[in-house]
Amino acid sequence: MAEVNLMQHYPAGKGRAADRPAITAEDQRISKQFGRDYFDGDRRHGYGGFNYHPRFWTDTVRNMRDHYQLPEHAAVLDIGCAKGFMLHDFQLLMPQARLAGIDVSRYAIENALDAVKPFLQVGNAKALPFPDQSFDLVVAINTIHNLPYAECKQSLREMQRVSRKHAFVMVDAFRNEAQRQAMLRWVLTAETMLSTSDWQKLFAEAGYTGDYTWWTVE
Ligand SMILES: C[S@@+](CC[C@H](N)C(=O)[O-])C[C@H]1O[C@@H](n2cnc3c(N)ncnc32)[C@H](O)[C@@H]1O
Repeated sequence: MAEVNLMQHYPAGKGRAADRPAITAEDQRISKQFGRDYFDGDRRHGYGGFNYHPRFWTDTVRNMRDHYQLPEHAAVLDIGCAKGFMLHDFQLLMPQARLAGIDVSRYAIENALDAVKPFLQVGNAKALPFPDQSFDLVVAINTIHNLPYAECKQSLREMQRVSRKHAFVMVDAFRNEAQRQAMLRWVLTAETMLSTSDWQKLFAEAGYTGDYTWWTVE
């Protein structure tokens, strides 16, 4: 288990909380449905248009392949795959790989990129529909913190169970009070918001031995 930043190319939270209009309970309720409103609706309820940008993913998947020295036939699972952007770039980089994606959002899966749609399914991170040790790499980017604490722990156990080698999570986290306050102004969907040290405790309690990095807001 190690902190490793493979996500330098993923959009950062720096300077973003100040731009966000004040969040209401109704905004959170709508966002947490992970439907059209969250991905492609008003900015108040999520992304305000969730579109494929190779600059976020092409070098990110190369980082993952190189860091974990994935063989060309590697099996890779993306939990919270949304419209399949990361898997799309894995497919370009490693055409022989066996790819799978799962997301709780039927809207995202139905609106996924055509090239990867056949590998995607609707499902929940807390109960992965895969046998033990199915994947060489299991990834969950900004997904598992959307579950309440006990289920979030369960999702880490699930990642551990279906991985035969590597796992990598990115989660909303804060290092100090200023970051916690900024996070509270920013977060629409997270149910489990922890300090970096509390996340590390949760990883250990769940028996998660994979790697991790933090998504912070400043
Ligand atoms: C912040 S988005 C991140 C999407 C993508 N991983 C990325 O980094 O661009 C969170 C994703 O997690 C999905 N999600 C939320 N709760 C989930 C759950 N319990 N199981 C699986 N997916 C979930 C949402 O539908 C959404 O696609």
